[in-house]
Amino acid sequence: MNSMQILIVDYGSQYTLVIGRTLRELGVRSIILPPRSVDKWLENNNPKAVILSGSNFSVHNEGAPEIPESLDTTGAKYLILGICYGMQLLAHKKGGVVERPLANREYGPAEVSLDITHPLFNNVSGKTQVWASHGDTVSKLPDGFTSIATSGGISAMTDKENRVMGIQFHPEVVDTKEGKKILQNFLNMGGCVKDWNPTDLIKEIQEEVLNDINKKTKDEKKQNVVLGVSGGVDSTTLASILAPILRERLICVAIDTGGLRAGELEELKINAKSAGVKNLIVVEAGDEFIKNVGTTIDGEDKRAKFRDVYKRIFEEQIAKYEAGFIVQGTLATDIIESGKAGQSAMIKTHHNVGLAWEVEDLHPFRNLFKYEVRELARVMNLPKEVYERNPFPGPGLFLRVVGTPVSKEKIELVRQADKTVSDIVKKYNVAKDISQLIVALLGVNSVGVKGDERVYGHSLVVRAVQTVDFMTAKGYYFSEEMVNEITNALTKHKDIVRVFFDVTPKPPATTEFE
Ligand code: XMP
Repeated sequence: MNSMQILIVDYGSQYTLVIGRTLRELGVRSIILPPRSVDKWLENNNPKAVILSGSNFSVHNEGAPEIPESLDTTGAKYLILGICYGMQLLAHKKGGVVERPLANREYGPAEVSLDITHPLFNNVSGKTQVWASHGDTVSKLPDGFTSIATSGGISAMTDKENRVMGIQFHPEVVDTKEGKKILQNFLNMGGCVKDWNPTDLIKEIQEEVLNDINKKTKDEKKQNVVLGVSGGVDSTTLASILAPILRERLICVAIDTGGLRAGELEELKINAKSAGVKNLIVVEAGDEFIKNVGTTIDGEDKRAKFRDVYKRIFEEQIAKYEAGFIVQGTLATDIIESGKAGQSAMIKTHHNVGLAWEVEDLHPFRNLFKYEVRELARVMNLPKEVYERNPFPGPGLFLRVVGTPVSKEKIELVRQADKTVSDIVKKYNVAKDISQLIVALLGVNSVGVKGDERVYGHSLVVRAVQTVDFMTAKGYYFSEEMVNEITNALTKHKDIVRVFFDVTPKPPATTEFE
């Protein structure tokens, strides 16, 4: 592996991995490490630049994460940029003052005035729209530092040599209009060169997996590798990358959880074939999932129960095929939102993240985002249906029966409703504008009138979102014509009385309802 030019110290912000992704979009790779792992890494590595991420901590909190001991913050060894908490931590440690003022707290869009003579803001507008999310503010700069941006308070700072800098807002978030330019300027200041391309990454992933396997066991039989496949872009792409190197040793396992969408199992088989998979095992487990997940209506509880059954089935398959490894297409986003990255807060338990397997588990996509995997899929010559496919959560339609116990009948109702709406979306040719479509049954019964008779029936909700990385999302507005057509089509079902349309952005909502 090439030595990394950029180290990102992860203090737990939801956006930390987005910094890595944005740098990769600019052609530069980076490594993201929690503070506790930095000292060891720096023993053998010499980055050109270091970014200190945001955090949900205040520097004044007990247990607030620190600057790693061996990290040089003088700017002598590497260029330093603190973002949000990263800036506050630098200011605090260097003798500045960080306060929590009543005014000047910023959550969301803000306008800042920049000192465009500073190289960090080269070619950026003097007044620009940014995304900020902080309660604390640097109210007094450390000696030797000057302010280079303001929005009521100090929004950015620099030392005299322009080697140690901080910005209070988030340049990595797309809502910071010129954030990418700012990060490009930072890369230029650090003398970073482009070092990322998907073809190299595919080779690296193959080498990494082979190395991991060979390191752990020389026993040929134990080298069977189980890969969970769902037909989605992540697992299909991973299968296509691993199939040529593992051949028959790659055992792809698909579970029919009973929560798949209409036609999904057939699609899965076609996709596995196009990925070159030799061994595809389909396990029918619908009844087992319903029996377990159907006992609760609590979102997290459902996910936990789903995970238990999911794990049990994989363990049976691992034992059956005497596999020594399980490999999964877990993405950086899955890891962040299930609270497994650095010190990020847990948003949701993901069905396949953080499971303690008896065999070695490998997550070769752990630092990648969806759009990057799509790029790998294109390089692997997978069909368009794979690399353009919208995501679908592992627990599937189980997450789309909300506030009422899941049953086979309710899942079937949602399955048909999902197909109806998907067909309308296709007919209107708007699928390309939508990142994910969700049709869910709500546990809200209400009164309606059908054929002059009173009915008391279910409600459905339709939600479409637009997003780049699923860390943030915007609600998609269907045209009035589509809203009417969808509503008419769905209320044809005798038990559906009402249809809601949900355009709440993420945050505050998440993409899925649970
Ligand atoms: P949220 O709802 O957290 O979802 O905004 C972000 C993206 O992740 C998908 N998702 C999952 N995918 N297992 C998965 O494989 C899961 O447990 C899971 N939960 C959410 C979700 O559909 C969206 O694309």
